[in-house]
Amino acid sequence: MRSEMENDILKVLVTEEELKTRVDQLGEILFEKFQGKNPLFLGVLKGSFVFMADLVRACQVKSDVEFIAVSSYQNATVSSGRVQITRDLQQDITGRHLIIVEDILDSGNTLAFLKEYFLAKGASSITLVTLLDKPSRRTKHITADLAGFTVPDEFVVGYGLDYAQQYRNIPYIGVLKPEVYAGN
Ligand code: PRP
Repeated sequence: MRSEMENDILKVLVTEEELKTRVDQLGEILFEKFQGKNPLFLGVLKGSFVFMADLVRACQVKSDVEFIAVSSYQNATVSSGRVQITRDLQQDITGRHLIIVEDILDSGNTLAFLKEYFLAKGASSITLVTLLDKPSRRTKHITADLAGFTVPDEFVVGYGLDYAQQYRNIPYIGVLKPEVYAGN
């Protein structure tokens, strides 16, 4: 496939094949845990949209999907620490088993905030699933229940992850060339 973005990528960290294999495994694990429980897959926009689409198809439980949008980076490469809800839940989650779907767990600010928020809204259980885990950057005491891949502290893009809102449509996880974000 032709790509306008290939020249901005330093290296491929996780290939399309590796993503597919791991997402299928995560789907199996979630099936075991949630069959018969009618869970709600709750994607955290925007980054999770690609992972969410693949994960729900890899886990054939009776379930529904919901999205919330938050932002804490505002085009910066370091979290501002302030999590803002930019699109709230559109349904009551009281008594629901939530599967929170994230693209990356970095400082932990977003998931720490959301976990409290969903518990306050009456969720009966919360399972945190993140495609990528970057434990070296954690400032909040939070761990994922399921993580696809542990990644080093490099600027990763693709499969939903952006830099300045771009590169989300790259089908693999790549590391951005430093000159692309130099000065920010
Ligand atoms: C990214 C990502 C997570 C969050 C993780 O979202 O999608 O939600 O950062 O980082 P943290 O653990 O340090 O909170 P971002 O605010 O960039 O918005 P986006 O999903 O629209 O890209």
